[in-house]
Amino acid sequence: MSAPQPLVVTHPLAQIHLTVMRKEDTPSAQFRWHLQRLAEILFTVASRSLETQEVSIRTPLAEMQGQTFARPIVLVPILRAGLGLADAILPLVPEATVAHIGIARCEETAKPKPYYAKLPALLSRSDVFVLDPMLATGGSACAAISQLKAAGANRLNFISVVSSPQGLEAMHEKHPDVPIVTAAIDDGLNDRAYIVPGLGDAGDRCFGT
Ligand code: URA
Repeated sequence: MSAPQPLVVTHPLAQIHLTVMRKEDTPSAQFRWHLQRLAEILFTVASRSLETQEVSIRTPLAEMQGQTFARPIVLVPILRAGLGLADAILPLVPEATVAHIGIARCEETAKPKPYYAKLPALLSRSDVFVLDPMLATGGSACAAISQLKAAGANRLNFISVVSSPQGLEAMHEKHPDVPIVTAAIDDGLNDRAYIVPGLGDAGDRCFGT
């Protein structure tokens, strides 16, 4: 079975939010606001094939069949920039559980350094969405997904804002079963493993540090 291609959301709204986020003079408050609007769009696309099940409801006029999610939803922001995505997505699925994975990036080697994980017990029967605005080398995303699979997750999705070809390749190699939704595939990485043209350090830009 060949791995699915990343789904690039080219909707004009998504691209306009991303453009503001990319500009170097966009202040944090505005960056966060556009990140959150973009996150809503990306999650709406990423969740398009979630299984639902029928529920009987009663409108003021009649009985009818409605839909509810077939499985619990777990959002997994990779700390810390993923929090900016989770903040916007949680109101769309308020019943979701939020798990956290902390993976720092060694600035010298750009290799992932896991430092925190708080995962729920229900992973194996959940639809899991891993959130990280920047898919750069793919190191953090692959490590987080390996950790989630080891904990029982088997229905995983990955949402990023900007992806690099190298990050997509790493995901394709290690986790071909995980569909990716992103707003852009940029040119590549610089010598510090930042995405170019990218938008800089998403965590710093989001939180003003
Ligand atoms: N993380 C970021 O925040 N930005 C990049 O360009 C790469 C990794």
